[in-house]
Amino acid sequence: MASLTVRQLDEKLKRLLRLRAARHGRSMEDEVRTILREAADETGREALDLIEPSTKPHARAAGPAKAVALNVLLIIGGGIAAYKSLDLIRRLKERGIAVRCILTKAAEHFVTPLSAGALVGESVFTDLFDPAGEFDVGHIRLAREADLIVVAPATADLMAKIAGGHADDLATAVLLATDAKVLLAPAMNPSMWANKATQRNVAQLAADGFAFIGPNEGEMAESGERGTGRMAEPLEIVGAAEKFLAHETTQPLKGKRVLITSGPTHEPIDPVRYIANRSSGKQGHAIAAAAARAGAEVVLISGPVTIPDPVGIRMVKVESAREMLNAVERTLPVDVAIFAAAVADWRVANAGEQKIKKIVGKTTPELSLVENPDILSTIAHRTAQRPPLVIGFAAETENVVANAKDKLARKGCDWILANDVSPATGIMGGDRNTIQLVTKAGVEAWPPQSKDDVAAMLIEHIVAALNGVKE
Ligand SMILES: Cc1cc2nc3c(=O)[nH]c(=O)nc-3n(C[C@H](O)[C@H](O)[C@H](O)COP(=O)(O)O)c2cc1C
Repeated sequence: MASLTVRQLDEKLKRLLRLRAARHGRSMEDEVRTILREAADETGREALDLIEPSTKPHARAAGPAKAVALNVLLIIGGGIAAYKSLDLIRRLKERGIAVRCILTKAAEHFVTPLSAGALVGESVFTDLFDPAGEFDVGHIRLAREADLIVVAPATADLMAKIAGGHADDLATAVLLATDAKVLLAPAMNPSMWANKATQRNVAQLAADGFAFIGPNEGEMAESGERGTGRMAEPLEIVGAAEKFLAHETTQPLKGKRVLITSGPTHEPIDPVRYIANRSSGKQGHAIAAAAARAGAEVVLISGPVTIPDPVGIRMVKVESAREMLNAVERTLPVDVAIFAAAVADWRVANAGEQKIKKIVGKTTPELSLVENPDILSTIAHRTAQRPPLVIGFAAETENVVANAKDKLARKGCDWILANDVSPATGIMGGDRNTIQLVTKAGVEAWPPQSKDDVAAMLIEHIVAALNGVKE
């Protein structure tokens, strides 16, 4: 049989493999084994059924692609897609993940506790006020012992209750009591999904830190209905769940200190007026959240923004560029510094101590500007306590890559994440971003994606870099 070693792979493939391995905290060889097992698992399933048409569990039940952490609490809501959640139980268990299951009252109209229990291998939980259940495990233990909670299907009603902080049944009480990550797999008729109330609840849940998988577009259970509302397929849900479980357990940035700046700065004209820019802070805050999820000790230094503080980080709120630089210097030393804030280049030379009065007939006051300190360049050029990895952003409206390359050289930083912030791109203030990563080694074009995904991708690159993978 022909043999193939990691060394024989082409450079691009090797680099991708290194990143993937670093993300999962595995060696490259183990990562290859995992990929091969997963592929063989999928393609081999039908063949295995033909060879061994038995009722016993598949040979892979021991689950080679085992995630490191292991307890998923599956909450099944009252939707037509509940039948798919039975398959989801099987798929999770095949991967060696322990599954506990709650059925809502409405879910019991679609699947029975008996069938769910048979697949889970223990009784499922259905009632908040069940004395046996409460003395045995109890809703607080269910909430605490889960590494990840998956709600599938997440019905419109269930999401409305969660968004509203209800706790009048077992599912919602557990969801209110948990610190675990919660992954929602919405499933409903397309009109229900598009309804403003549902969208409002989804936005609230996303802001509260809930993760989503789907809904997908396609045929609905109702005949002739098509649109967005199909529950993600069980394997897609498993994939998303494994990502969170791996993050929970491997914590590749544990022990690392990461500093991030975010948002705009406000440069005073007088006590009531200021110069600002359109930065929302969404990208910097998303990076802070991703770094915290990866286990880093995160200090987020933010200018004035209206978005919520990410959880699990130390927040330092500032207004002006000079305050931001002071806060950054006070935070050193750090392992990684990421400068995502849109710092004003200039400030008003003599900001008024009193409100500048408008006097009719008098000439309009002239603002004279002076240059602000360049935070990225100051930190990147430090000789003492220069962070080992200094990353800047370049918000450009033209010649994006050329300007970013120039900025990388001028500022003395290690990486620049360049993005086109022309109004037509909708990046400034929007939820998506398209990044070109510029390093001394070259330029890497990232696909258009959500700011959360950009953050996750940046963290993967940082993990790889700290593990000695060359960028
Ligand atoms: C046949 C049938 C199918 C339903 N399918 C869905 C669905 O796919 N998604 C949804 O949000 N609600 C659906 N509903 C409505 C929910 O069952 C109802 O809102 C219920 O209160 C949800 O309960 P839960 O909060 O426990 O999930 C369906 C109702 C019926 C009668």
